[in-house]
Amino acid sequence: MRVALLTGGGDCPGLNAVIYAAVRKGINTYGDEFIGFLDGWKGVIENRFIPLTLEAVDGIQLKGGTILHSSRTNVKKIPGGIEKVQEVLKANKIDALIALGGDDTQSVTLFLSENGINAVGVPKTIDNDINGTDATFGYDTAVAIATEAVDRIRTTADSHNRVIVIEVMGRDAGWIAYAAGVAGGADVTLVPELHIDMDRVAALLKSNYDRGKNYGLVVVAEGCHLPEGGQVMGSAEVDSFGHARLSGIGEALADMIQKKTGFETRSVNLGHTQRGGVPTAYDRLLGQRYGLHAIEMVHDKKWGRIAVLRGTDITDITIKEAISTNRRLDQRFFNVIRDLEAKV
Ligand code: F6P
Repeated sequence: MRVALLTGGGDCPGLNAVIYAAVRKGINTYGDEFIGFLDGWKGVIENRFIPLTLEAVDGIQLKGGTILHSSRTNVKKIPGGIEKVQEVLKANKIDALIALGGDDTQSVTLFLSENGINAVGVPKTIDNDINGTDATFGYDTAVAIATEAVDRIRTTADSHNRVIVIEVMGRDAGWIAYAAGVAGGADVTLVPELHIDMDRVAALLKSNYDRGKNYGLVVVAEGCHLPEGGQVMGSAEVDSFGHARLSGIGEALADMIQKKTGFETRSVNLGHTQRGGVPTAYDRLLGQRYGLHAIEMVHDKKWGRIAVLRGTDITDITIKEAISTNRRLDQRFFNVIRDLEAKV
């Protein structure tokens, strides 16, 4: 078969591991040929691609980012987009398409598969919030980076007797905040699933100070709503899927904490450092397992389906189910946060 791959949306450590495994198994087991469209759906529309040979993918499973580059391109919004995709795939004699991406990218994969294109998906996001899968690759790396940052920030917060608010990624779900907050021993962990109660935040920090601790660490997810309501946007612009760029809740919160407690407070936004660099061993392994399953899905003609991790097994579900909702933290995780906080 002639198979095309693409990576869409925000990049994610482990994307190259998926590409590596799908290409190796496809060539070695099935005698497939591969191309990789560049810049996500944009490269399909513009017919830009590179050949993916065994040599081209050699060693890429160790690397961060995506060798195919990425973009947030919504084919559904481009006039004649679907026809253009069909034309390009036909011109390149593509039998099947593997799209690596989050819910936005997969909404396009679903749309195309409903319009006669042989396409399957692989879920991707450091936010770990795709429905139906227990973990997405990239999440483990993001948590490791964020936790290391909390460790580092701890010493400077201590030296200066400050509170420091650390903003991490997570638009709709607080998976990174939850894990880095708990693993990093933050005094306060704030996730988008729960309302921010400023009285409680202040009480938690004060109770630590009362017990002789001279500094405080707060981890907050970018998607958290302000106590008075509304998310904090980095800019007024929205992407082609209608999402605004979230950024700044950490700074806003630091201001509120300083005013409410009198403690000198700073903030730091970890931003894209969480998506950069090499994947952890776990993400390299998980990415490769996803890639191996993806090429099996192609040969089994499982169009419109997406690979998922269930427990310790990789299997697949419909893309429709995967994008129907976001997987969010629930009471079990809130309890972990609460049970480790100071008593107030
Ligand atoms: O990939 C998801 C995500 O990392 C979100 O947590 C974040 O809001 C967004 O991507 C940032 O995207 P961009 O790279 O386009 O600024």
